[in-house]
Amino acid sequence: MTTHTAATLAAPRAPLTVTEIATPTPAADEVLVRVHAVAVNPVDWVIQGTGRITYRWLRTPAVLGSDIAGDVIAVGADVTRFRVGQRVFGLATGTDRGRDPLREGAFQQCSVLLERLAAPIPEALSDEEAAVFPLGLSTAACALFQPHHLGLRMPGTPASVTAPEVVVIWGGSTSVGMNAIQLARAAGYDVVSTASAKNAETVRALGAEAVVDHRSPSAVADLVAAIGGRPVAGAVALGAGSTEACLEVLSRVGGTRLAMASTPVSLDSLVGRRRLFPAMLPVFMRIGLATVRSSLRARRLGIRAGFVWGSSLRDDEMGPRLWGEVVPRMLADGSLRPAPAPLVVGEGLGAIQGALDRQRSGVSAEKVVVRL
Ligand SMILES: NC(=O)c1ccc[n+]([C@@H]2O[C@H](COP(=O)([O-])OP(=O)(O)OC[C@H]3O[C@@H](n4cnc5c(N)ncnc54)[C@H](OP(=O)(O)O)[C@@H]3O)[C@@H](O)[C@H]2O)c1
Repeated sequence: MTTHTAATLAAPRAPLTVTEIATPTPAADEVLVRVHAVAVNPVDWVIQGTGRITYRWLRTPAVLGSDIAGDVIAVGADVTRFRVGQRVFGLATGTDRGRDPLREGAFQQCSVLLERLAAPIPEALSDEEAAVFPLGLSTAACALFQPHHLGLRMPGTPASVTAPEVVVIWGGSTSVGMNAIQLARAAGYDVVSTASAKNAETVRALGAEAVVDHRSPSAVADLVAAIGGRPVAGAVALGAGSTEACLEVLSRVGGTRLAMASTPVSLDSLVGRRRLFPAMLPVFMRIGLATVRSSLRARRLGIRAGFVWGSSLRDDEMGPRLWGEVVPRMLADGSLRPAPAPLVVGEGLGAIQGALDRQRSGVSAEKVVVRL
């Protein structure tokens, strides 16, 4: 049996440890990748700290992580878009229900990617830059393009309306937000967004025409003013308080679609505890109440609001179109740039636990990356 090393979650809430695990053989629609860089997302430390409640299907030992960049070292029988030796990046979905977190988790030397959720890395991009994309980009695409969310036309689809429509992206300096701005612009929409003042210019440079401070008491009014009476295609809510703020904006401008990616209350306070019970009770009660409150408000306002699952594009037509057509084309024409900028915090699998802790302590327009 061939083996490789992995940063493994041996038991719920345990720190990641480096262990030897079996190297998988790629299935017909998969490529096996020698991983050279991984990025960290909030969900990684959420799963580590609360997986027993939030990811109940996940069995340990498990390998976490969604964002991979590396070299193809083997291809499945039906793979046509990749060859051995090619540089590739893609979305690892090992922690999803029904998937195998040991084969498909990102935080290991060798992992498998589905061909349809991967793309070649252009020569001009480093592995560390390519690793910032997968979950942020995929979540942004689900929010914008899935028919049950905003249902926007994808980049490359001719517009059937001539009047410019506006997309509101609350949380434009998040990883998901920065990708959402670029995708929405490439699809022909105008974008208004939020970020702290120090990130406003960065967010503007990605294509947002107006950027207001999400901490300002006048943020909602400022966004409404920036929209200036144009038709609104919908809003993407990212960050604490974003759902209520977006509902308010949409109610004032007549928008009817909202895609929410963040839990209404952060799970951060539960991570790192030796026991989840009873501390989880007030947190989940607040999440439940906030969800009911915003659902009722959305319904009253005639706004269709839904929670985004960033890896759900694995099972629809949008995923292969995004990764197989849109991403390679946008990288080639320069309309998709790696954002947030990679913040390389260490090297080797042993650095990944520190990277999770670093992400959890807070980032600002940065993507925490580890080189392997
Ligand atoms: N549902 C899914 O499938 C899915 C997938 C990925 C992510 N998510 C969620 O989406 C959210 C964004 O994730 P991420 O990885 O993109 O985040 P991230 O990059 O870690 O977000 C960091 C940024 O959040 C911004 N921020 C802080 N408070 C904010 C607020 N109240 N409103 C708007 N922005 C705020 C900060 O902006 P400034 O520094 O400019 O203030 C900072 O730059 C998180 O809640 C995450 O859990 C969900």
